[in-house]
Formats: sequence, C-alpha cells, structure tokens
Amino acid sequence: MPNEIIDGKRIAQLIKDEVREHSAALRARRDVVPGLAFMLVGENPASQSYVASKERACEYCGFHSTTLRLPLETSEAEVLGRIDTWNIDPDIHGILVQLPLPKHIDEDRVIEAISPRKDVDGFHPINVGKLVIGQECFLPCTPAGIQELLIRSNVATAGKHVVVVGRSNIVGKPIANILLQKAVGANAVVTVTHSAAPDIAVYTRQADILIVATGRVNTVTADMVKEGVVVIDVGINRIEDADTAKGYRIVGDVDYEGVRQKSSLITPVPGGVGPMTIAMLMKNTYQSALRSATQR
Ligand code: GUN
Repeated sequence: MPNEIIDGKRIAQLIKDEVREHSAALRARRDVVPGLAFMLVGENPASQSYVASKERACEYCGFHSTTLRLPLETSEAEVLGRIDTWNIDPDIHGILVQLPLPKHIDEDRVIEAISPRKDVDGFHPINVGKLVIGQECFLPCTPAGIQELLIRSNVATAGKHVVVVGRSNIVGKPIANILLQKAVGANAVVTVTHSAAPDIAVYTRQADILIVATGRVNTVTADMVKEGVVVIDVGINRIEDADTAKGYRIVGDVDYEGVRQKSSLITPVPGGVGPMTIAMLMKNTYQSALRSATQR
C-alpha cells in the first residue's frame, strides 16, 4: 500500500495565498480591509504564541488586526464590555477571544457575547446549531481544516465510513457533524467513539477515514486500523526526547510509524492538521468581511 503523506503545511499555505489574493481584490473593488480583533487575557505562553502566529497570518493576508492584551485579574464584565464595542465596530469582521480564559471568567458567557456574524471561531451556539441543521455558518477552524485537507487530497467521503475518536466541542463533535451533512465534501457515514467505549478498536478497525482527536499519545496503533485507511491525526502532544535540542518533540495521537505502514494517506504531526487551523481562520475572516461588504 503506498503510504502517502497529506502535507498540511503546503495546503495551508495555498489557502492563505488564495485568501491574500481575494482580500486584495476586495480592497480594490470595495475599499474593505478584513479586520480581526484578538483578546488575550493573562500570560499563558501557549496562548501568546498562538495569537502571535494568528497576527502574522493576518499581516500576510493583508488584513488589519488589533490585539487587546488584558491582565489575568481582568473582570468578566470588562471582557464582555470590550466584546460589545467590537460587535458594533464596522471595521472589525472577526472577534477571537483566545481560550482558555482565567477560571473566574465564564467561557460560555464570553462566547455567547460575541456576535454570531463575527464569530470566526465558529464557537457561538447559533453557529453550532446552524452547522448541525446544515445552514450556512462559520465552521470551527480545525474541523473545517480537516474537511479541506480531505477535499484537496481528493479523498472521497460520500458513503464512506468516517470514524471520529474523541467528542470535544472544538473538534470531535463539529467534524462529525460537518462530514455527516448531505453536501459536497461530506455525505459520510459517521461513527463517533470516545473514552467511554470499552474497546475503541472495534470502531477504528471499521474506518475508511479515521479522525483522531483525543489529546492522548498512541490512542491508535497499527493493530487498530484496516489496510488502506486514511488517517487524520489532530493531536499535538509534547513528549520528552533527550536527543533533541529542546528536550522534547511534538507527536500526535496516532502511533505514526506503525499506522503509516497500513494507511493509504496520513497527516504527519507537526505539519498536518495544525497549520490548517490558522488558514481557515483567515478564510472565515475574509468571508465575514465579504459578507459585510455585500450586506447579506
Ligand atoms: N485556544 C486553542 N485553540 C483555540 C481556537 O481555535 N480558538 C480560540 N479562540 N482559542 C483557542
């Protein structure tokens, strides 16, 4: 079985290049520059690094961005007030509050305060509900990126058995719903399995397309998949490795070396799903700006 790699870094770059081109055209035609507002509360190093990458992507795509860095002790009322200001600012087309938030702030309340029309993360209950019933909406960026990887790698999904391992609100539940829709790039038969299953291998062995998002190293090993499976590994885990300069390396949720012997296509970690998240955030923000420019 030829085991090819799905190059997420390359596909993400293609998408950013497309967005950059479309954004330049929108500016030329309608004098609109897509705008994205970031909020970062506290000093979580991972969050700071994610926001910095998103800011760089905005610059690359020709967007304007603004980042509000607030101290850890900021009140929920202050956060909600800032969101209200952005909700009515016509130059802001997307609002992204970097999660996790400090414990004294209710994340659900914050997400619900963001206008669904500027919710480029696709986390607002209105967008989640629209996704489930097949209405046009912002799709959450990581699952939207997974669908895009499958489409651009010519992996047919219609009638195929997709098995999703993990039921998070950010990846497992939305990707299951996206691929279940009666739509191009979807129309799959979807099974979701998770930590309560006595033996997930019963399900993973049936997968034509296996999507793994558990946050646990070696969730899926070679004995748990069938020959020819397409594997999408969403995990980003740090494991100790004394042979590297940093003392650690990044691995996914799948035993890559073992599983790739049987897969027809597989995403590496890093360089698979990871880069797609920011690319789809750029795409969502462009689409929000386009919609506001054409007043739909
Ligand atoms: N924290 C980790 N991933 C994400 C994401 O995709 N969006 C937001 N807002 N916060 C995150």
